[in-house]
Amino acid sequence: MTVKKCLFPVAGLGTRFLPVTKEIAKEMLPLVNRPIISYGVEEALGSGCEEIVMITGRAKRSIENYFDRSFELEDLLLRRGKKELYDKMIAISELAEILYIRQREPLGLGHAVLCGEPVCSSEYFGVILPDDVFIHTEPVLSQLIKVHERLGGSVIALELVSDEDVSRYGIASGVEIEPGIFRINDMIEKPKLSEAPSNYAIMGRYVLSPEIFPILHSQGTGAGGEIQLTDALRTLAKNEPVYGVVYKGRRFDCGTQKGWLSANIQLALEDPELRKMVLKVVEGK
Ligand code: UTP
Repeated sequence: MTVKKCLFPVAGLGTRFLPVTKEIAKEMLPLVNRPIISYGVEEALGSGCEEIVMITGRAKRSIENYFDRSFELEDLLLRRGKKELYDKMIAISELAEILYIRQREPLGLGHAVLCGEPVCSSEYFGVILPDDVFIHTEPVLSQLIKVHERLGGSVIALELVSDEDVSRYGIASGVEIEPGIFRINDMIEKPKLSEAPSNYAIMGRYVLSPEIFPILHSQGTGAGGEIQLTDALRTLAKNEPVYGVVYKGRRFDCGTQKGWLSANIQLALEDPELRKMVLKVVEGK
């Protein structure tokens, strides 16, 4: 009943972060000292997943290159006596088993998940949207996996958002069966506040049943003309259990400039060396 595979849909265009994302994959932007994507990969591994499946697109080759060997660079580092840096580069390429599948057209998150069907159709699998970076004591995916191991079914991460933010997210509602755990019975993607069934927004971590695939196959487009994962989850919840977990941790939406900047500042403040530097800059000293 555990979860060994984790899907990373990273084929989105990143329009909220233009013009940066015109040429740079947003997942490769630095968060203090390493790319955003590496935080998600470490979360998956730290949650017990052993195989990573990335759904990539045209402009995302840099992600593949980042997790691969780079013989020229390694050779140069060795020749210059930079053994410590060399070891660091090797460690990145040995971090995980990663498989890449191309989503030919960015038709939506639901469609990106469907692209993972050839490798994820026989067991429950995790999904990480790496833009959502969490500062946590226990990885958020691991929090969801624990609920899956205990109760079975699919599990989604929930966060209570303000009225103004409801229309930016998929919103879910259900019956609270334990403190902070809901059996979900309704979901709607980017609703108007008047149509939202609650203020619980779905955040970028999931444990999904492979039964999501036949649903995605037969589903048309939804909000924004995209194939929406939320719509498929709504159908899934009618046939089998879907639980919502109010995760513990703090989230940064690194798919936007403000969220990315906040995450950089927060993480720097948590590093004893960088903290001094940030406070000095802010205080103008
Ligand atoms: P977003 O809603 O953040 O869309 O996708 P986006 O295209 O990445 O960014 P904006 O909204 O234009 O700024 C949520 C997640 O789903 C992936 C994205 O890469 C991101 O991880 N996604 C989205 C795909 O893989 N394919 C798609 O067709 C759409």
